[in-house]
This record gives sequence, C-alpha cells and structure tokens, in this order.
Amino acid sequence: MKLSVIGCGYLGAVHAAAMAEVGHEVVGVDVDSHRISELAAHRAPFYEPQLPEILASAGAKGGLRFSTDIAQAAGSRVHFLAVGTPQRANGNAADLSAVHAAVDALIPHLQPGDLVVGKSTVPVGTAAGLAERIAEGCPGAMLAWNPEFLREGFAVEDTIHPDRIVYGLPRDEAEALVSRQLLDEVYAVAIARGTPLVVTNYETAELVKVAANAFLATKISFINAMAEISEVVGADVTQLADAIGYDARIGRKFLNAGVGFGGGCLPKDIRAFTARAEELGRGESVSFLKEIDAINLRRRQHVVDTVVDVLGGQAYQKKVAVLGLSFKPDSDDIRDSPALDVAVQLKGRGADVVAMDPKAVPNSMRKHPQLAYTEDVETALGGAHAVVLVTEWAQFRDLDPVWAAQLVKTPLIIDGRNCLDADRWRAAGWTYRGMGRP
Ligand code: UGA
Repeated sequence: MKLSVIGCGYLGAVHAAAMAEVGHEVVGVDVDSHRISELAAHRAPFYEPQLPEILASAGAKGGLRFSTDIAQAAGSRVHFLAVGTPQRANGNAADLSAVHAAVDALIPHLQPGDLVVGKSTVPVGTAAGLAERIAEGCPGAMLAWNPEFLREGFAVEDTIHPDRIVYGLPRDEAEALVSRQLLDEVYAVAIARGTPLVVTNYETAELVKVAANAFLATKISFINAMAEISEVVGADVTQLADAIGYDARIGRKFLNAGVGFGGGCLPKDIRAFTARAEELGRGESVSFLKEIDAINLRRRQHVVDTVVDVLGGQAYQKKVAVLGLSFKPDSDDIRDSPALDVAVQLKGRGADVVAMDPKAVPNSMRKHPQLAYTEDVETALGGAHAVVLVTEWAQFRDLDPVWAAQLVKTPLIIDGRNCLDADRWRAAGWTYRGMGRP
C-alpha cells in the first residue's frame, strides 16, 4: 500500500521505516531538512535500537523515501500524522500548531477516498475538528485516529509487534467502513498475528492514549510516594514493589521507584490531560494528576538533596560523577530528563559535575553547554567525591564496584534508579544510598 508519514521524529521515522519493512511503499515527510537528509541516506537521526537496521533493509528494498516536500505525499492512499505535540511554552496544554500546520499543508495534496490517520497524542476533541477541516478542504477524504503506544528504546519492536491496535473511526457508517478496510490493510501483518484490535470512535481513541500514559505515570508516582514513606520508616520499597507486584491485579511493571519519569510523553501528557479536563469543566476528575506530577518532580530534588547530604551538607567544588543523561536507557532523548535535571541542579549547588552518558552527550551539550561531559565512564569516575546513577544503562548496572572504587576519591554512590546490588557495592567498600531503601 502507498503510505505517507508526516513528521519524522521519534514516532514518525520509526513508523515510516517499520511500515516499509512490513512491505508498504512509504514516503516520510518532515520540515527539518537535516533530519530528512539523514533518513534519506538511511541513517537514524537519533539513537534508537534496530532503527538503522530497518532503515537500511527497507531502503534496500526500495519502498522507503524521505522528503521535505509535502507534495510527495500526493498519490499515497493513507497519510499518517506523526508530528509532535509538545507542552505549550506558556502553560500546561498541548501545543497543536504542528498538527494544524501539517493538516493544512497536506489538504491540497489529498484525493477523495484518501485516509488521514492521526497518530500524534492530542487533547480529546481534536480529531473531530480536524475531520471537519479535511472534509471541507477535500470532500471525500476521511480521518481516523490511531494512537501509538511505542516505547523509546523498543520503538521498532513495538511498531512491528504492537500489543494492541486502536482505530478511532468516523461516525458516518460508510466512511467508517472504508477507513477500517484501509487500516486493516495497513496493519494486515499484525492483525493476522492476532493482535488485539479495539474499534471505536475518535474521542475514545484519543482518550485511550492519554489515559494509558496517565495510568503509567500514576503507577510510577505511586511507588515513588511509597519510597518517600519507606525512607522515613526504614522500609525497602524494592521489596515492597516485589511483594505487591506478585498480585496479578497490581503487576510488578512500572513499579520501579527512583528519580521519577521523564521524556517527551508522560510529563507533558499528564499536564495536557489536566488542562483539557479543566477546559471541559471536569478538572476535578483528573486533579490527582497534579499530585502525580508533584511527587515526580520531588524525586529529582530528593536525589540532589541526597547527594549534597552524603557530601556532608555542601557540594561546592566537590567532583560529582553523574551517570546518565537520557530520560531512560537505550535512548538519546533528553526531553524532560530527570537525569539531566539532576546534573544541572547539582551544578547549581556548586558541584564540579562531570556527566556521562553513552548516547545522550551531544544532545545534552547543546542544551546545557555549562556542564562538563564525557562518554567515558573511567573519566567520569576518576577522582569523584560522589557518584550518582540516574539512568539505568546496562553499562552502569554492570559496573564492577571493586574496579570503580579504585578510580574515585570517595566511594559514595547514590543509586537513583535502585538498579545496583546494594550488598555487592557495600562489600566493595562503598557507602550506598538507594531510593526508598534503608
Ligand atoms: C511512554 C509509554 O510507555 C508508551 O507506551 C507511549 O507510547 C509513549 O510514552 C508515548 O506516549 O509516545 P516512553 O516515553 O518511551 O513511553 O518511556 P517509558 O518506558 O514509559 O518511561 C517513561 C519514564 O518513566 C522514564 O523516564 C522511565 O525511566 C520512568 N520509569 C518507568 C520509572 O521511573 N519507573 C518505572 O517503573 C518505569
């Protein structure tokens, strides 16, 4: 099938390559010429495992093109909208300017019978408005909403093997039928594999996405709230999570306490959801999300305070090795990253910060040139008065505490992700401080 993907960021670039990989003929379009020239050369413009491989294999098969010219979308039957919806600079709501700009630019290139498919995360009610605009601009063209649930670091796997597919279809029955047939053809491989499919209206599809992210954020802040209590009473939140996680109704996933959640999705999505609920006169229904956000942001502060505390109450001119900058491992994404925030705050407290990350140093350097960076863990640890682990890259989880102890000035480690074996580190002479652990 001929598809276009408008917006080639973390979502769109992976979607375009994955759709080509499963056999469609895809053109990816973006206004960022550097990003497009990288993708056109089958190079990933950001770090995402497996993306270079599928760009190369789909490119070699000839079914994948990239362009800055939206006119190249003409002739495709299905057009995915995958542009960003970041938090507005002046508030909590989502900034939909890229979505509107993409739809306006696409309309002149649509044909009757084409299907526009929204993938971007949008406030509930957006799709209905866009559908009207599309119908006015190109009578006979249709809109469906098809939220995306991929996780960075597993984006290729999640796109090719999604755990569920959601179609938000038009109210008009005939349009709904055609839209569904087109989407079934797009996702034929995943559907044949038995992937659960939920077919619904626009509003439910839009809400599914924000509800899923709000739930995940709630789980993380719940366990972080338990970490706060555990810290006071001397309980161990990791054992608490294991114990409650054995209850299948609760589940152990997303119950890792630590420095909290970040990234381009969870933080801005819970804020945008709150803002939208308030516009709908239902602010109280999700007012708990403000608490979720507050608990989450307190974690960053807590990590910084713990570092200063172990350093004897002041960080001035103390070398602190910050291990991790990306918001999670296997990503170079630093959007709303707790790790980078901790590094910046420690620098603000006077510490001599050396930040290390396997992939996120270039992005961090552009945003915070005031910090000292390295991609070499030995350089980061050398002569450090304290070490703080804030992104659980495998390279850090696998660190040998005996080897590391020989490099630092003082063997003090703050494990902001509870990912190290505390006993092993203590046995190697380290003072170990976890999150919500005795
Ligand atoms: C999240 C959702 O998990 C995806 O399903 C969704 O498609 C995506 O947002 C999106 O809206 O596009 P992602 O932002 O890649 O995916 O990251 P997550 O794996 O959800 O992690 C988010 C943050 O929570 C990270 O900073 C991570 O370190 C933190 N986290 C996660 C915890 O602090 N504790 C946990 O137990 C789990």
